[in-house]
Amino acid sequence: MREAATRVLPEEVEDGFRRMWRDLLPVGRFDATGGYRRHAWTAADAECRAWFEEQALRRGLAYEVDRNGNQWAWLGDPAAGDAVVTGSHLDSVPDGGAYDGPLGVAGAFAAIDALRARGLRPRRPLAVVNFTEEEGARFGLACLGSRLMTGAVGAETARALRDADGVTLAAAMERAGRDPGAAGRDDERLARIGVFVELHVEQGRYLAGTPHPVGVASAIWPHGRWRFDFRGEANHAGTTRLEDRRDPMLAYAAAVLAARAGAERLGALATFGRVRVEPNGTNAIASLVSAWLDCRAPDAALLDSLVEETARAAEGAEVTRESYTAVVNFDPPLRDRVARVLGGAPVLPTGAGHDAGILAGEVPAAMLFVRNPTGVSHSPYEHAEEADCLASVAALATVLEDLLTPAPATSP
Ligand code: HGY
Ligand code: MN
Ligand code: MN
Repeated sequence: MREAATRVLPEEVEDGFRRMWRDLLPVGRFDATGGYRRHAWTAADAECRAWFEEQALRRGLAYEVDRNGNQWAWLGDPAAGDAVVTGSHLDSVPDGGAYDGPLGVAGAFAAIDALRARGLRPRRPLAVVNFTEEEGARFGLACLGSRLMTGAVGAETARALRDADGVTLAAAMERAGRDPGAAGRDDERLARIGVFVELHVEQGRYLAGTPHPVGVASAIWPHGRWRFDFRGEANHAGTTRLEDRRDPMLAYAAAVLAARAGAERLGALATFGRVRVEPNGTNAIASLVSAWLDCRAPDAALLDSLVEETARAAEGAEVTRESYTAVVNFDPPLRDRVARVLGGAPVLPTGAGHDAGILAGEVPAAMLFVRNPTGVSHSPYEHAEEADCLASVAALATVLEDLLTPAPATSP
């Protein structure tokens, strides 16, 4: 049986991958933490985009940016349709790791190099994509580029999204030289895509300790983001009697504890990882606490109950759902085919959202996960061994080759 881990890449393909990785490594890195701040439509993002364009042009691929700001690099005629598309994203969470996203983009270019080195002449167009604002770190809505392309978020809603400084997506796109008026569901582009495969670092420890550097995704848990606004009254921390206070921090604390207790009981995940306090003074009672709940569960009913019980504990808070992604079950025939050509790679679910999950509502989509020895992600300590990254490039090339090659006619 063929095993992806044992496929060897030509040395120049390995070197090409290392070069891409080295070039990208300093972009948007925040020295104090070692983490990345590559937020959509910022200077760091522009550098990532320039890197993508350079990789496309260096390989003689046709480069374009779609109406929603996603970048594309094409081998073959995009208009021919039924394209095999691979790629991921280059943006990061605040102080994110190097691998979440970029591994799938650099890996895609390296896989094309590997296919060319094998002398493959694709019968279908092949494209690499970089989806914009996958993490939602700037405008709050994860997978923004793929959601816009598929219409999972309306263009008007998206244009009005604001970052922490009040800048709208529309203004940020304009400043970056894009036309926000053109954003929205892109039927023409969707009609070109036959299949989408995303390579991504694993964000857990399923593959760690196994002999498998690469796994295949089965499903994504339903998940979403909710903003909790707890209102109170600002006052002096040193003089206001406890009984006279309206301190929103107390309800916030109760909500954090309820979310954790509920998640433990229901076998789900709930996280308050972002909070904004007004006026944010050490010696002042807060007037407003805004906190964001990230909640994920094995099924929608459990997710709903967990959010409801957290909201009940958050006495008096105004709760706004900012995003929701229903469960994604990746196309079973494609998933099985991918696992098979990889010599029986393990199949695993994830709680993390991905552009592949959004695309899965439109076209057959699949994901490859690369072993992560610690499971750490969304942190500067995220890591994957270079040998595993190279094995994943070989695996992606094998999967793409299989998809690009017409299936042999079956005998009657
Ligand atoms: O947050 C997520 O699930 C993903 O990593 N974008
Ligand atoms: Mn991520
Ligand atoms: Mn990612």
